[in-house]
Formats: sequence, C-alpha cells, structure tokens
Amino acid sequence: MSGISSLGYLGLGVKDVPGWEKFATQILGLQSAGIREDGTLRLRMDEYVCRFSLHRDDADDLAYVGWEVANPAALREIAERLRGAGVAVEAGSAELAAARGVAELVRFADPNGIASEAFYGPSVEFEKPFHSPRAISGFKTGAQGLGHIVVATSDVDKSVRFYCDTLGFRISDFIEMKFGSARFSMAFMHCNPRHHTIALIPIPLPKKLLHFMLQCHSIDDVGATMYLVQEAGIEIAASLGRHTNDHMLSFYMRTPSGFEVEYGWGGREIDDRIWHVQKHHAPSIWGHQRAGMPR
Ligand SMILES: [Fe+2]
Repeated sequence: MSGISSLGYLGLGVKDVPGWEKFATQILGLQSAGIREDGTLRLRMDEYVCRFSLHRDDADDLAYVGWEVANPAALREIAERLRGAGVAVEAGSAELAAARGVAELVRFADPNGIASEAFYGPSVEFEKPFHSPRAISGFKTGAQGLGHIVVATSDVDKSVRFYCDTLGFRISDFIEMKFGSARFSMAFMHCNPRHHTIALIPIPLPKKLLHFMLQCHSIDDVGATMYLVQEAGIEIAASLGRHTNDHMLSFYMRTPSGFEVEYGWGGREIDDRIWHVQKHHAPSIWGHQRAGMPR
C-alpha cells in the first residue's frame, strides 16, 4: 500500500514571528526564506523551498502537518483510504499548493484534531543550496524528512490505528513512562528509515505539539548549540542525553512559543526487513534530565 513517505513540512501558529525568526536562524541554524505578503515566515533547512511556515497566531502551537507522498497516484490512494475510513478529505486549492510550495495537496484532520495535509511534488531549489546562518554542518533530511514530531492524544490506540492502517506508518516501539503515580505508554511510529517520524503521548497537554526534532549531521553541532542556548539565556528543557529507543543524542530547548525543540545527532535507523517492535521502560539511557523531575 502507498503510504506517507516522510514529514515534509510543518506549519506553526506563533505570537511572535520576529522573535521566532531570530530564534530559528540564530539558534536553530535554519535559513530564512523571507516573509510572504500575508506575513508568513518561511524557513529552509535543505533544498526544499520551505520546511517551516510560521503564521502569526495567538495559539503558539502546531497549525498543520504536511505529509509527503511519492507521486499523484499515492496521493489519490491516500485520499481514497481516508474517505474509506470515514475521514473528510478536501482538495487543496492551487493557491494553497503555491503557498505550501508543493504541486498538489489534500487536507484532513487526524483523530486528535490536528490539521493535516498530504502532498506530492515539493518545490526544491538545488540551484540555491541551503546555507545555515550558523557555522553548523546542516540537517539530516532527504528520505527521512524534516525530523519528527511528538503530539498529544486522548486515545493512543485509535491514533495508532489511524496512522498505521490509513496513512501507512509502522510501529517502531513503545516507551512506558512513569511520572509520580501516573503511568502511560508512548507510541512511536515510522514511515521511512528515521526511527520515528511521529510519536504520541497519551496525556492531556496545554498544546497539541510537545516538540519537533531536528537532527544534525555532526555531534559538534549539538554541543555548540547547547552552549549557545545557555549563553543566550534560553531555557534548556531537558539536558543532554541519549534516548533508549532511537538512540538519539540530544537536548531539548524551549521555543518562543513554549513547546520544545529537540536538537540531536546520531539516531539509529530502521530497516523494516528486520525491525521488531520493542518496549522500553525509560525514555533515556542517560541524561535528558528535567528540572524538578526525579531521575
Ligand atoms: Fe523527540
């Protein structure tokens, strides 16, 4: 079955677009692709003309997720499967496709009410190579897409069925978490060799988005950025650590919108021919300490 091939783009609704532009370029090392007539800030991280669109919005949260598929036939198949599952699917207009920088898209909502789009044909500019404003080696994207997102869900089983049965994701693993007396299990899913492209956390949270993750080519980018974040007085939400499931070496910083960015390196990849689902009982092998949280 044709499924989603990668996380193509993210739309964020943010209160402070100028503050985000500074944060995204000077801290994260993304490249500004300019502000469109409607005030939307576009950011690049590779050859795609746009990986992030930042819209002025009081929500300070995820506005929409752009899921890439390979071609028009795959888009038709996904749309038919969504309709077959009783999900309303709307064709995106030519104007919307131009705004997103894609050839064609459809719109739908996931079971958690997250505005979602499936598209093919991203506009790419190899003739204008990505150039980070910072001295970093750049981001691991390509077939693995822009990174991963972790979102809140009220019904993890229903969401896993939606992402796997309808959109073609596969389960990577689960992490059983304990916070005081609370126990819950997070579900991690992949659609390409990146260990997880979406993870679901089944607890009520103030925002839809817990964090998005950017993966650097070099461990030095993670270290240098961590010290830059400290010097800039930005909150480190979780200290340097290595995750149990994707083996990502990373730290988490607070964005101007309150949700977090995971900045990482060295995640292990999934080969679907041999991968088997695992269950973990801790989020990290070491580190990722949070203020006020027991180890
Ligand atoms: Fe993450």
